[in-house]
Amino acid sequence: MPEFSIFPESASTMAGSVDALFWYLSAVTAFFVIAISLANLIFAIKYRESQVDVARPIHRSTPLEIIWSIVPGVIAMTFFAWGANVYYELYTPPSDAMNIYVVGKQWMWKFQHPEGRREINDLHVPTGVPVKLTMTSEDTIHSLFIPAFRTKKDVLPGRYTSIWFEATKPGRYHLFCTEYCGTEHSKMIGSVYVMTPEDYQNWISGGVPGMTMVEAGRQLFEGLGCQTCHSRESGARGPDLVGRYGRPQMLAGGRSVMFDEAYARESILNPAAKVAAGYEPLMPTFQGQISEENLLRILEYIKSLGTQDEGSPGQGSEQ
Ligand code: CUA
Repeated sequence: MPEFSIFPESASTMAGSVDALFWYLSAVTAFFVIAISLANLIFAIKYRESQVDVARPIHRSTPLEIIWSIVPGVIAMTFFAWGANVYYELYTPPSDAMNIYVVGKQWMWKFQHPEGRREINDLHVPTGVPVKLTMTSEDTIHSLFIPAFRTKKDVLPGRYTSIWFEATKPGRYHLFCTEYCGTEHSKMIGSVYVMTPEDYQNWISGGVPGMTMVEAGRQLFEGLGCQTCHSRESGARGPDLVGRYGRPQMLAGGRSVMFDEAYARESILNPAAKVAAGYEPLMPTFQGQISEENLLRILEYIKSLGTQDEGSPGQGSEQ
């Protein structure tokens, strides 16, 4: 049995700064609780009815009012500045982060590594590497929480959210769903296995040899007939996707949008929403025809096309 402890283990690079902020908030709060309680007690005794001249009331003091407004104001701003800083770091994944995809459903967590390995309710990650989880839900709202990494975020149907962490200590840690999502919400739990980079390499290359996500995505892309329109030929019905991902995309009507995960997803499920400049809104919707996991594979393939130069042949390569 695990021994009782107030804090979960600290196993990520962010854990220290989250805890430091927590202790700062607790210390300031404790200081004021004690100071105010003591003052209350002392004043109640010192200024009890028999000791004061109730006929001479004391009126306002401007300096005192200024001090008791400014001092707490400054202290509150330190909460804000420090908190905003930690929050920003906690929710801004480094650009070189390793990607793992997460699909939540009633009542399990499905994880998918770009190299092809998939797992349920278990997540294997290496130490010393920033890992970004791109998450979505097949049904209702879930929320992924890994206490040892001090990070948590809602997992929503119909869109992608993400968290990131860099694990520091090999071991096994809890992961939870922290959004009530139905009768078996409390069983929607699992383990994060943090491994040394060598162990992780062995793990990722072990198991059933399968297709990488990019390969699986390309197969789906071709199987669904996407490339018949999204091709390099001039006069093609849809834009060629090579070199597009991660760059601004001009839209019909003169606006532009970042070609990111959200835009790719929307364009597959609701193609008429934001049509690329120079093309007709001909594409049919794929709403209801592609599972969340397959959508992630197609996304990973489109991403891999985005990193290629527009001049090179449009072959899907690995990463
Ligand atoms: Cu999923 Cu609670």
